Amino acid sequence: MFDLRPASPADRAALYRICLQTADSGADGTHLYRDPLLVGHIYAGPYLMFAPEHTFVLEDGEGVCGYVLGVADTPAFEARLEREWWPALRAQYPDPVNVPPHERTPDERLTHLIHHPSLHDPALLADYPAHLHIDLLPRAQGRGQGRRLLERLLLSLREAGAPGVQLGVGGRNTRAQAFYRHLGFSELRRTPGGSLVLGLKL
Ligand SMILES: CC(C)(COP(=O)(O)OP(=O)(O)OC[C@H]1O[C@@H](n2cnc3c(N)ncnc32)[C@H](O)[C@@H]1OP(=O)(O)O)[C@@H](O)C(=O)NCCC(=O)NCCS
Repeated sequence: MFDLRPASPADRAALYRICLQTADSGADGTHLYRDPLLVGHIYAGPYLMFAPEHTFVLEDGEGVCGYVLGVADTPAFEARLEREWWPALRAQYPDPVNVPPHERTPDERLTHLIHHPSLHDPALLADYPAHLHIDLLPRAQGRGQGRRLLERLLLSLREAGAPGVQLGVGGRNTRAQAFYRHLGFSELRRTPGGSLVLGLKL
């Protein structure tokens, strides 16, 4: 019923759509953003572009309904985005630097990230140089497909030589937190805002 396959450039629109439809702590975030492409520009597009070997999609009769994506070498990926991904987006979306942080709209908060990306904690990168994101639409959730996707990505990151993988999860997304812990991830760090960084040795 569900087919798991490597992503292709033709999946870009589906990845962006799923990214938005899971952007509100795992629930549909469509109502939060005026520009429907912003979240995908940050959390989906660059992975498909620069790490297609670690990007997998889940498909059913209705189409693509989930993905997992990641990179084995986070510092190299962040450096590449600085050279080849952010410049075009920075030209397209002005930096809301003059709007005080607490007055920024959700779109402006993401646009600020395009100009000032939130980089991974260097202290964690030696042991956990890889990172990932996973999102399934509701119709694919709770059927073992999240585990299946995650295990496929962990295999490809292990084959690429990464000794560990980390991920960020929002404080309100308790369902995803429990999923990751069930699959062996443990807490590496907690941010002041309540988000968690979880990690797994590969
Ligand atoms: C979080 C998410 C990836 C989990 O995928 P899923 O397909 O729903 O989970 P699965 O059915 O594959 O569950 C895998 C295992 O985790 C367990 N599990 C899943 N959710 C759990 C929970 N909330 N608490 C405890 N165990 C949980 C399952 O029981 C299952 O155990 P088993 O394989 O040992 O029988 C998926 O629900 C999702 O994409 N949610 C919306 C987007 C999101 O929140 N993404 C993460 C952003 S950080």
